[in-house]
Amino acid sequence: MCGVVGYKGKNIKVADIIESLKLLEYRGYDSAGIAFNYNGDLVVQKNEGKIDKLLINFNGKYEDISSNIVIAHTRWATHGVPNDINAHPHIDCTKKIAVVHNGIIENYKEIKEELINKGHNFISDTDSEVLSHLIEEFLNKYNNLFEVSLEVVKKIKGAFAFVAISNDLEELVAVRYESPLIIGIYDNNYIIASDIPSILRFTKKIIVLENGDIFFINKKNEYKIYNFIIDKEIKRPIEFVSWDISIAEKSGYKHFMLKEIMEQPKVIKDTLLERINIDSNTITLDDKVKNLIDLKINDINSIVYLACGTSYHAGLLGRYYTWELTDLNPDAFYASEYRYINKNVNLDKILYIVISQSGETADTLFVARELKRLGANIIGIPNVIGSSLYREFISFNTRAGIEIGVAATKTFTAQIIAILLLNLYISSLKNKDNLILKDLIQDLAHIHIVVDKFLEDYIKIQEIAIKYKDYEHFLYLGRNLMYPVALEGALKLKEISYIHAEAYPSGEMKHGPIALIDSKMPTMYLAPYNDLIYKNLSNIQEIKARKGIIIALVDNKSVDIVKDYVDDFIVLPYVNKFLQPILFNIALQLFAYFVADLKGLDVDQPRNLAKSVTVE
Ligand code: AGP
Repeated sequence: MCGVVGYKGKNIKVADIIESLKLLEYRGYDSAGIAFNYNGDLVVQKNEGKIDKLLINFNGKYEDISSNIVIAHTRWATHGVPNDINAHPHIDCTKKIAVVHNGIIENYKEIKEELINKGHNFISDTDSEVLSHLIEEFLNKYNNLFEVSLEVVKKIKGAFAFVAISNDLEELVAVRYESPLIIGIYDNNYIIASDIPSILRFTKKIIVLENGDIFFINKKNEYKIYNFIIDKEIKRPIEFVSWDISIAEKSGYKHFMLKEIMEQPKVIKDTLLERINIDSNTITLDDKVKNLIDLKINDINSIVYLACGTSYHAGLLGRYYTWELTDLNPDAFYASEYRYINKNVNLDKILYIVISQSGETADTLFVARELKRLGANIIGIPNVIGSSLYREFISFNTRAGIEIGVAATKTFTAQIIAILLLNLYISSLKNKDNLILKDLIQDLAHIHIVVDKFLEDYIKIQEIAIKYKDYEHFLYLGRNLMYPVALEGALKLKEISYIHAEAYPSGEMKHGPIALIDSKMPTMYLAPYNDLIYKNLSNIQEIKARKGIIIALVDNKSVDIVKDYVDDFIVLPYVNKFLQPILFNIALQLFAYFVADLKGLDVDQPRNLAKSVTVE
């Protein structure tokens, strides 16, 4: 994780670079720092805490200062507690070199020892500091950052995107290995960052660095790209990004999370666009995805979903969709678990669906790459265009747009849509006249209208949040398609409200969690109208019999069955059972949002988290 920014070109206001860094804060925010050339001196300013604190400290001393060479960093700590010293940039003993790093240098201990024996003086507890000292060491032999970085990458192991500057040489080098780096280019000026939105304020012309790329700019502002894996200089295309900078603004909402929840009708529409046809009741997949499925459909007998966190919950939902909509056997695994189990299976029989909003999650990417190496059939579902998952795999991307709130909301909904489309397509290949499919395609095409209407009035959810915000424990229960929704709802509450929430399939409650039930642990019970409504009613009564408090999420068909047995209820519109997860989940997103906001918590940047987890 961590966000890195670098700049080299004509003089620029250093505060502008800090503003750009702010857009990377979702990647980590426990400390922040900046280093820049100021009249030949290397100035370093860094502190524990967020970028706003850096900006205040910076403006207190250097307001309006410009520089031709700058690097900046926002940190999510891996090695060394968040404090001023462990904050990046890290400098060398001569105080002429500064480095910012995203990733982990796995062999930093042995390198550090070696360098200490050579007389280097380390001041931080981080793995990253070895980079500045290694560069210093190799600069004794080579007098440019390019050759130095070729030596550095031979020494270090792990994942790294780092940007280093030398004040004396007036050079900058950016190196990408397993962590993303993008270069923005305008009028012979270069801005380097961990993602595209943080570059947009400067330019829409970008180069996406590939694994192993070293991007070097000399004193005259001439650049070259060299790939250290294939050991040769290469040219990367300059691409044009059509996104607007407003995607990274709150547009009047108090938090990005609320803005992103409200964007969900559009996200659904966009993800369906040109992929669903309500006249012919057909699904049209992107060419490469369709070709892969068409080619393999008679060979495969199962679908395995792999992902982490919220994306894993989408995969778990996919498992239920595949069971119910196709004749394939489904499974879903946490990517971090699947990575290290012995895959003693016939890979030709499996279609892997790998889901990742960021497309950069290390746990997910590493297992996908390993499966690709073994020749597996893989479809990626990334949201971020240009991410590693997007570029390295056949991808069926969601179209949620950039998600800034650390808690995933609209991207989860988009993932559900994408997974449904894949399952509907697979199902239609074998069973063209299936009425369930036809109904579902029709309903899916209109679900954004229902969501839009539902989002117009969320006062009841706000009232429930006010009433229950001070409870310290919650149980979330749901059956079948509602079980992944319960897991996701509990995750949202944990992530942004710091409230303990456990989720179980409703039928499992009596096998243990029932012991937790008392008047201090409310249950959020998901009870839409479907075949299981009376089973759900029995479970609700079991909770009531033990003096449990129940908040039920119901729809306008199940409300009358449930309402007399629960303490509070929220009524949602009744929709096709396969689409119920979308609405129920949005209600839980809102509940978690309001609880966190009422508690005065940092909704968009909850403690300890980062949006893109690029370490294992
Ligand atoms: C979601 O709210 C979380 N921040 C987290 O669980 C996230 O879903 C997980 O880290 C996976 O991220 P990805 O989708 O980018 O791979």
